[in-house]
Amino acid sequence: MNAKQQAAPYTVPGIEAGDARKVVDLLQERLHALNDLHLTLKHVHWNVVGPHFIAVHEMLDPQVDAVREMADTTAERIAALGGVPVGTPGAIVAARTWDDYDVGRADAVAHLGALDLVYTGLIEDHRRAMKATDDLDLVTQDMLIGQLARLEQFQWFVRAHLESGGGRLSTEGAHTLREAAGRASGEPETA
Ligand SMILES: [Fe+2]
Repeated sequence: MNAKQQAAPYTVPGIEAGDARKVVDLLQERLHALNDLHLTLKHVHWNVVGPHFIAVHEMLDPQVDAVREMADTTAERIAALGGVPVGTPGAIVAARTWDDYDVGRADAVAHLGALDLVYTGLIEDHRRAMKATDDLDLVTQDMLIGQLARLEQFQWFVRAHLESGGGRLSTEGAHTLREAAGRASGEPETA
């Protein structure tokens, strides 16, 4: 499916067609990232084990719901702008620039270490998209700002489990999901 070829000949009033296309392209990347995130959060919800199981298992479902809502709002903004929101699994895999989440059954803190890195990547990209909409579309920017506030709060929920009393994160310096999971659990080979 070629979304650009199927784009509608209209967009929201007051936006140049070229600017609308740029916003649609930005939002399509964010839609892929949000769809990937809510699936990943459910994967963790299902695979977390250990003494903190129920706390983390139950912490994640409201995040899944909120991120699914963000994906829905983002997709509908793309449609309102005249674009074609693409939400199929194959399109996500083909377009994504990040690694698939590769931690299976693991202790809660190991999953939270990996999730910290997942949130960092998504939030950095969301912020770049937010800044890029400065001169393009402030309505889209407002939507992205609202999403960022929630996403940053969710990352704080995750990080609070990884933080020492001195304020250091156990995942500091990790570059891969397994590295972050290992550092968080104090077992470099974990996961
Ligand atoms: Fe469940």
